[in-house]
Amino acid sequence: MESIYGKQETALPEILAAFRARIEAASAEVRKSTGSAPYEHLICRVKSDESMREKCLRKGLPLTPQSALRQVHDAIGIRVVCRFIDDVYVVVRALKAFSGVTVFEEKDYIRDVKPNGYRSYHMILSLETPFEDVDGKNPGRFFVELQLRTLAMDSWASLEHEMMYKHAVENRKLLASELKRCSDVRASCELSMQTIRNLIRESDVMGDVMA
Ligand code: GTP
Ligand code: MG
Repeated sequence: MESIYGKQETALPEILAAFRARIEAASAEVRKSTGSAPYEHLICRVKSDESMREKCLRKGLPLTPQSALRQVHDAIGIRVVCRFIDDVYVVVRALKAFSGVTVFEEKDYIRDVKPNGYRSYHMILSLETPFEDVDGKNPGRFFVELQLRTLAMDSWASLEHEMMYKHAVENRKLLASELKRCSDVRASCELSMQTIRNLIRESDVMGDVMA
């Protein structure tokens, strides 16, 4: 059976690897100038043929490369996990400044927290690439879905995901409201930690000036 990605199948991992390398290089630059890396780790994946077919079916889309690469935007996905909230926005700014990158969609679930307590910064970027795209253009454009979040947001999201995908969870309502509470407690703690880090860094700068 032919891949749902059609002729573009082999380009996807290459586009992902090249974009990942750009993010890593940008991170190294920030690290050089500020002394700390803007993110803790990142994970990348090309959505499997099977999951993409499932997603298209779920959305009522025909099983075509057009659906997979134009109607659905997360064939290529990258999750960036940061230590502090401010770092998330540092990475967002760096990504937006990349050449050949335009923002197709942006959702700030850190500012606009989802009712269940989900926090994350989502962007769908459209990248110019040296590959032919599904519309026959070369240089072609490909979408990349980015999820940027802190370590606390990340472990919360994976726990919530685990609950959602288990069919028989007892006390689902109670667990959901406990999860929401945990998300809020952690968010307030993360704000305090951000403030503490800012104060430490400010006094560092003052120390440098005084020295
Ligand atoms: P798609 O149909 O997947 O494009 O969803 P959408 O258009 O509503 O996009 P959104 O940006 O809200 O979500 C994209 C991805 O973020 C999802 O596929 C999940 O991986 C993640 N996500 C969004 N909301 C939640 C949530 O409430 N809990 C968890 N654990 N993950 C979420
Ligand atoms: Mg989406």
